[in-house]
Formats: sequence, C-alpha cells, structure tokens
Amino acid sequence: MTQFFSVADVDNLSQLVDEALQLKSNPFAAENLGKRKTLGLVFLNPSLRTRLSTQKAAIHLGMDVMVMNMDKEGWALETKDGVVMDGNTVEHIREAAAVMGQYCDILGLRSFPKLQDREEDYSEGLFRKFIDYCKVPVISLESATRHPLQSLTDLITIREYWQETIRPPKVVLAWAPHIKALPQAVPNSFAEWMCRAQAEGMVNFTIAHPKGYALAEEFTDGADLIHSLDEAIKGADFVYVKNWSSYEDYGKIHPVEGKWMIDSSRLALTNGAKVMHCLPVRRDLELASEVLDGPDALVIQEAGNRVWAAQAVLKRMLEQLQ
Ligand code: CP
Repeated sequence: MTQFFSVADVDNLSQLVDEALQLKSNPFAAENLGKRKTLGLVFLNPSLRTRLSTQKAAIHLGMDVMVMNMDKEGWALETKDGVVMDGNTVEHIREAAAVMGQYCDILGLRSFPKLQDREEDYSEGLFRKFIDYCKVPVISLESATRHPLQSLTDLITIREYWQETIRPPKVVLAWAPHIKALPQAVPNSFAEWMCRAQAEGMVNFTIAHPKGYALAEEFTDGADLIHSLDEAIKGADFVYVKNWSSYEDYGKIHPVEGKWMIDSSRLALTNGAKVMHCLPVRRDLELASEVLDGPDALVIQEAGNRVWAAQAVLKRMLEQLQ
C-alpha cells in the first residue's frame, strides 16, 4: 500500500479489518517493523482522535513520529500553480511537500474543504499535489471529500460488535441536525466503505437524510436512500449519526421538516441498535445525551478503534518499505 486515500486503496477489505482486530489483541506484534522509520503528521485543521490515535499506532510499530500543525506553525501555503506569489502565501506546496518527504518515510495529511467551490473541493487538488510532490507513502488524515481512517475504524467496530453469522447487520447512516455547515467527508467516506462492504456481503446499508441533503452519487451506489428517519431506522442494528451540509446547494444548510435527532424513543424503533458517531459530537443537538450516556452508544469504543485502523494501514505501508 503506497497511499491510503479511499477504499479503492484497499485490495481485501475483510482481511484489513481482521488484521486490525488481530493488532488490537496483540498491539506489539510488529513492534520492530517501524524501527528507525519516521512518520510525519501534517495538520491544516484541528484534530483530537486522528492525531493521537495515529501517533499511538506508530508508537506500537516502533516508529518515530513528528507532528506539524501547519495551519498554526507553518508558513502560509500556496496551493495553486502558475500564480505570482505576491500575496499572503509564503511557501508553495511543491517545495513544502517535497521537503517533508525528505524528513519522513511516511506522511499523513489532514486538509478540510473550504465549502465554497464544490468543483475545487471535490477535485482534491491540494491532496493530490501533496501525494505527487512528497514522493513517500501518504495516509489521508481526512481530506476534502473522505475520511478513510475513520471509515475503516467504523467497519472494524461493526465487525467487532456484530456476532451473528446468519445475516449481515442493517447499518443506517442517519443525518443529524447541526448549527454549522460541516463537510461531507465523513458521510461520503462512510457511505463509500459501506457500499463496498455491502457488495461483499458484510452489511446491508441504508442512508436517511432530509430532502436537499443527498450525497454525491459516486459515494452512495447500492445504498437504500430514504427521507424518513423513522422508516430508515426500523430494524436497524447500527445507526451511524452524522451531520453534513448540502452537496447540491454546496456547503449550505437549510431548515428541515420534522425532528432528526436520535433519542431513546427513536432508538426503540430499531433492532436494539448500537449508536455510532465519529466525534466530536454536539450533545442534544446532533444526538441526545440519554443515548450518548446509555448502554447502546459505541462512540468511545469506536474512537478507541481508531488506533487499530491506523496501525493496520501503517503496518501495510511499512511492509512495503522493507
Ligand atoms: N473523528 C475524528 O476524526 O476526530 P478528530 O477530528 O478529533 O481527529
């Protein structure tokens, strides 16, 4: 594996999930694999889980880790080609990425969308340039359109908490309210991974969202799309709660009809569903406290599994570097 940007970078999904769960049961099984190798984590945006879990995963593999908060500590980056840099940007992504590639064996990058220009965000120009210029394997720590480490974690968590063998679990991605316009990266990525998992017989997948909040079709091929939350979550085994802003009316938030927050009474419609969220979550806006604090919430276990997702991916990359 030389890049981890989307589910397309994974040849055998089930095998990667198994490997992550094996690492969970034996974290130091490959503790020398990353000895004398350096992981650089570059953040253009804030992070708690991605930063700490990826560092922890690298430590388990014997790697050294350097973290760069580029947005606060780095030079202002120019990402466009062919411009005269006579404004506020100080360093071009071409040099910055190439230099970081000199110091690191593997690089991770987080870069959120600006939510102003859909074409620009969905072209993933900055991410692709970073991959091209740094010349070392790159892990996405969340890009404009996807969050693959989160999605791998989510699949690991579903596998871990689904013990039935007779049928695959019904998994529902449920849009939730928010006061800010959030990117589509997490739901795009979750949908993309669940559609692949569904095609491989691992889950049955439904997406529930209000009208006007459809995700891009490239991520939802094969999913059941429903505009009624109550209808969608009937018989669900896992409900994945997440807000996103409109893709159609790009980056906008619109008033929605009816209540979209999951609370205990809503959860009663499910098949005793476990409730997931990538975090951070706004209590009693996105998801009721009574659910977050109750026995059906998996959000903390899910965040814990971020370590094993990152470790499985880093292990694959390190094996390739040997
Ligand atoms: N879920 C997630 O990626 O968390 P952070 O933004 O805190 O890294």
